Amino acid sequence: MTDPTKTPHIAVLGSANMDLVAYVAKAPERGETVTGREFRTVPGGKGANQAVAAARAGATVSMIGAVGTDAFGTQLRTSLEQSGVDTDLLRTVETPTGTAHIVVDDDGGNAIVVIPGANGTVTALAPGDEGLIASADTLLLQLEVPVEGVLAAAQAARRHGVRTVLTPAPARPLPPELLAATDLLLPNEHEAAALTGIADDPRAAAGALLSQVPEVVITLGSRGSLYAARGAEPVTVPARQVTAVDTTGAGDTFAGTLAVALAEGNSVVDALSWASSAAALSVQRPGASASMPYRTEIDGAADGVS
Ligand code: ATP
Ligand code: RIB
Repeated sequence: MTDPTKTPHIAVLGSANMDLVAYVAKAPERGETVTGREFRTVPGGKGANQAVAAARAGATVSMIGAVGTDAFGTQLRTSLEQSGVDTDLLRTVETPTGTAHIVVDDDGGNAIVVIPGANGTVTALAPGDEGLIASADTLLLQLEVPVEGVLAAAQAARRHGVRTVLTPAPARPLPPELLAATDLLLPNEHEAAALTGIADDPRAAAGALLSQVPEVVITLGSRGSLYAARGAEPVTVPARQVTAVDTTGAGDTFAGTLAVALAEGNSVVDALSWASSAAALSVQRPGASASMPYRTEIDGAADGVS
């Protein structure tokens, strides 16, 4: 990776959840009870995860969102600050902090129920939000806060010429105005299939999405990622061959680090490769934000592979 001449400024509007994680050999079927091995509370939420990933990768990062007045809210704010994320515009509201109830099995895969709580109050920009977005190089967005809030942020970014990267997760239909204000769409393969109706063919799905946004990256889990842009041949970058213990937050690690690498002016292939190294490090450790690597680790893991 090139050394940045200027530290990128990344703004994130999105969710902060406390992840309540049960580690089990095999997730229970409906009606079944299983005994798990371990329980952890880990700071998570797609917005906070992407903020932590970008900050640990070396960017200046500011987070817009909401937590409750409860202990989880305090812990999430502290955890973001410990990773270097500015939380001045993270609101504290009279609604319980969001939680994610996660089962991780022995293959490292997961099943998740999210209770949005305070995240559900992020329906519009608050004073200061647009100024912050205007000062950023890139705005990272996901769909764990109401789409009205996401749209308001994306349109503010567009007014100020700030690059927008939207992770369309959890999958839901996207308003055309939001796609019109999106520069880079970053779905996983399931979200890409949900958006296009095209399953098991990421190139075709990416091609369909390019009619709505100028650039697309589809992440493919252990099979890597695919980049497509209008008028160019798609590029595929493999994932690192590692043993996953917990893939929660892999996509968020990828998104946060990719945004940093692109904002630093690296080529798309180098940026994808660096993000793959970061995500591969994260899947080898438990927890969402807790598993995210720092820049020196990513550079060490990426040495000789990009
Ligand atoms: P999650 O929802 O679990 O955070 P996601 O579904 O959004 O993740 P994935 O496509 O599963 O995103 O993974 C994102 C990136 O992380 C992949 O493109 C790949 O680089 C890396 N990755 C994911 N799983 C693995 C794995 N088992 N081994 C190596 N790299 C992985
Ligand atoms: O993308 C991973 C995140 O999704 C977890 O941290 C959890 O909070 C869920 O929202």
